[in-house]
Amino acid sequence: MRALGNGLVLKAIAKSDLDAVHAIERRAYPVPWTYGVFFDCLVVRYDCQALWRGDRMLGYFVGQRVLDEAHLLNVCIDPDYQRQGLGELLMQEWLQLASSSGCRRALLEVRVSNPGAQALYQRLGFERIGYRKGYYPTLEGREDGIVMALSLSPSQAPAS
Ligand SMILES: CC(C)(COP(=O)(O)OP(=O)(O)OC[C@H]1O[C@@H](n2cnc3c(N)ncnc32)[C@H](O)[C@@H]1OP(=O)(O)O)[C@@H](O)C(=O)NCCC(=O)NCCS
Repeated sequence: MRALGNGLVLKAIAKSDLDAVHAIERRAYPVPWTYGVFFDCLVVRYDCQALWRGDRMLGYFVGQRVLDEAHLLNVCIDPDYQRQGLGELLMQEWLQLASSSGCRRALLEVRVSNPGAQALYQRLGFERIGYRKGYYPTLEGREDGIVMALSLSPSQAPAS
């Protein structure tokens, strides 16, 4: 558990939190992950953390670390709380977790139809490194993904 100021707390997601996670997911995405995908991410011990204010979950991220690379699988803020800086805060927490555990590169994919998320990632320093044709399911078929990367420096690690 990590206090982030302003009454915000970052906590590892527990199985008992998955209903709240999935409720946000279903409202935030036209094609949401299933409950089972989140459950599996917990089972394999991916980095699954949620942002809370009091007893209200505001968002979450799911990431995977492999050797010196961190891969973002999902980041999401409750639609009622978007554009308040919380997505950026969550991303910074994920990047800090990655760099402080020895990762030297952060990777993610983003839908071509998601300019808001692309703007957030660019603001954090991510650059486009590739393109995955038909990577994402849509309600009508498939959609391309943009691959983005950010080099992480050891100095980004927290002091303690
Ligand atoms: C993408 C997402 C996580 C951003 O979270 P957020 O809390 O709304 O974003 P923030 O308030 O931290 O935004 C920080 C900056 O990112 C950029 N940004 C974020 N959302 C944006 C949008 N919809 N349009 C344009 N720029 C946006 C802006 O530069 C913004 O700064 P500003 O508000 O001062 O202009 C959130 O919109 C979300 O959960 N969307 C649904 C799920 C999703 O698409 N996840 C990403 C999958 S790759």
